[in-house]
Amino acid sequence: MPRPIYITTPIYYVNDRPHIGHAYTTIVADLLTRFYRLSDRDAYFVTGTDEHGSKVAEAAQQAGLSEIAFCDQTVETFKTAWENLSLSYDYFLRTTSNRHKQSVQKILEKLHTAKTENGEDVIYSDFYEGLYCTGCEKFITEKELVDGKCPHHKTKPEKLKEKNYFFRLSAFLPRIKELIESDEMQILPEERKREVLGLIGQELGDFSLSRERVKWGIPLPFDKNQSAYVWIDALSNYITAVGYGDDPDSFDKWWTKGEVIHLMAKDILKFHCLYWPAMLMAAGLELPDKMFLHGFFTVDGDKMSKTLGNQIDPNEMVAFYGADATRYLLLTQFPLGVDGDVQAKRFITQYNSDLANDLGNLVSRVIKMVLVNCGGKIPAPHKEIEGLDALMAQAEELAERSYAHIKHFRVTNAIGDAISLVRATNKFFNDRAPWKLVKEGKTDELGGILYACCEVIRIVSILLYPVMPGKMTEIRSVLSLDSASLTLANARTFFELVPGTKVKLDQPVFPRIKEEKEAKTGAPAPAEKEDDNLLDISEFGKVELRVAEVLKAEKVEGADRLLKLQIDIGSEKRQVVAGVAEHYSPDKIMGMKVVVVTNLKPATIRGVESRGMLLAAKKGKKLTLVTVADDIPAGAKIS
Ligand code: MSP
Repeated sequence: MPRPIYITTPIYYVNDRPHIGHAYTTIVADLLTRFYRLSDRDAYFVTGTDEHGSKVAEAAQQAGLSEIAFCDQTVETFKTAWENLSLSYDYFLRTTSNRHKQSVQKILEKLHTAKTENGEDVIYSDFYEGLYCTGCEKFITEKELVDGKCPHHKTKPEKLKEKNYFFRLSAFLPRIKELIESDEMQILPEERKREVLGLIGQELGDFSLSRERVKWGIPLPFDKNQSAYVWIDALSNYITAVGYGDDPDSFDKWWTKGEVIHLMAKDILKFHCLYWPAMLMAAGLELPDKMFLHGFFTVDGDKMSKTLGNQIDPNEMVAFYGADATRYLLLTQFPLGVDGDVQAKRFITQYNSDLANDLGNLVSRVIKMVLVNCGGKIPAPHKEIEGLDALMAQAEELAERSYAHIKHFRVTNAIGDAISLVRATNKFFNDRAPWKLVKEGKTDELGGILYACCEVIRIVSILLYPVMPGKMTEIRSVLSLDSASLTLANARTFFELVPGTKVKLDQPVFPRIKEEKEAKTGAPAPAEKEDDNLLDISEFGKVELRVAEVLKAEKVEGADRLLKLQIDIGSEKRQVVAGVAEHYSPDKIMGMKVVVVTNLKPATIRGVESRGMLLAAKKGKKLTLVTVADDIPAGAKIS
């Protein structure tokens, strides 16, 4: 039996909002998990959130919530995004859970009594000296200062010393170096391996393992005045999740005996490739087998950041393209491992080309011909068809090739090979021109061509299932296939489809999207009706318009164009997010009587709930809100 496989993503900071960077790693992990499961490997997939530390405490304070209430609220944004993307994780780890706290305390106890090879204590206490901002209640680095002052409080930080516990990293580095060099612990891609080895060469010092002044954290079991440094807390999640503290059988299966793969981007290399193995070695635990550090991507040339407001929300993409196409588009932007620039405006073109024109079209044209010419049943195969041998050979080797690609994290190659097969099949279809055979009454040959095309569709539905589980299930149901035959083994051979099986096609699997509806960064334009823009009077009547008075207005953090408004619509008070900040300051809009669409489903925009939409007139760059005279009361209905 092959070893079970344990796949992890980083646990994301809960004070951020999920964006496509987080989504990317998590989709890759989901893809790997699903792929290994298809090949009959037992796989376990864990993701989660990193919830301790001063930044979370600050964010909670700003939101006027207790730390845990803030975490409870924001963790849901991650869970919702992952659900929208059809991510099938087995366990969601929160560092504030009791399970994790107990596990961290257990590992800390273990480290506290551990000795290095030279018999020294792995943990020792010493003084940490740094610049401390009393306003922020934390140490800040020289780099963060602006004109020698804290950028938030504009005050000079004081030099302060506090007692800390340190982890004797230096004692473990020679062995870690050997393990990385020999690939016993594989750091991938090669460039990242060189980077870690380079870091080891720089004689890193020991690292501080606790903080006295950070209160929002897990207390050290041997000194309750100190809390565990965020990285000790965070990295331990990987063992908590499989039962380090409470489930020895599971821990043995997944951690000790399993193949452990950590996925992340290159930003957190030092912690994972050096701190984490050192901690595990000191605690006498197995090391991970592989760590894959993929590239970091920018959006339209800029680093994604809250302040720039250019983070692309995966939920917005899902709303526009659906979960499957979003997964496909994100996974195929550039090879896993390299840095790249995401240009959202290219998404529609790529969707139309790969999914609508190539894959979707193959399914539609083949199934339509089966419906019209073969009584809606899969015809019998026929071997004497020009080009069939080559097509079959390409189809039958796809499973093996994809497995090899996935094993080596060549995600875009695995997907690219499947799409190439689809293109080859479209070409085969065109070259054989089955519509001519209909006229000539050559039904055997016609059936053989259609059978072969259905077989390719079936094989592709298996190999692209880990990328687009929903759409591939839909395609499989077109061919009346269920999940029992959804295995890699079934993708290895042709002639699996049983002639006579019914097919059905209710709608195109990947409908085309109009190209001129260009997607802007992170906010794809909503789909428009294809041909008819005219509304029925009854349709217009469904829109409820009311006069509202703006009671309060403020900017939405990290979004230059948005204002968060509290409005009075007569019967109730509501919150609305409006994209008018470039035209109206909060002061200017306050007190205005505006017109609001009140019967829309609530939406979440940049993490803020919005229940309604303001009407505005727009000409060129000028935008003016539709207002009403002051004597019209809030709540008045506009008809
Ligand atoms: N909480 C730590 C991780 C602790 S794991 C023991 C952390 N969190 S994070 O929210 O900042 O997530 C960093 C990870 O998010 C990256 O390693 C990567 O997986 C993903 N990405 C965030 N932004 C990204 C890009 N712009 N591009 C690609 N991946 C990105 O660090």
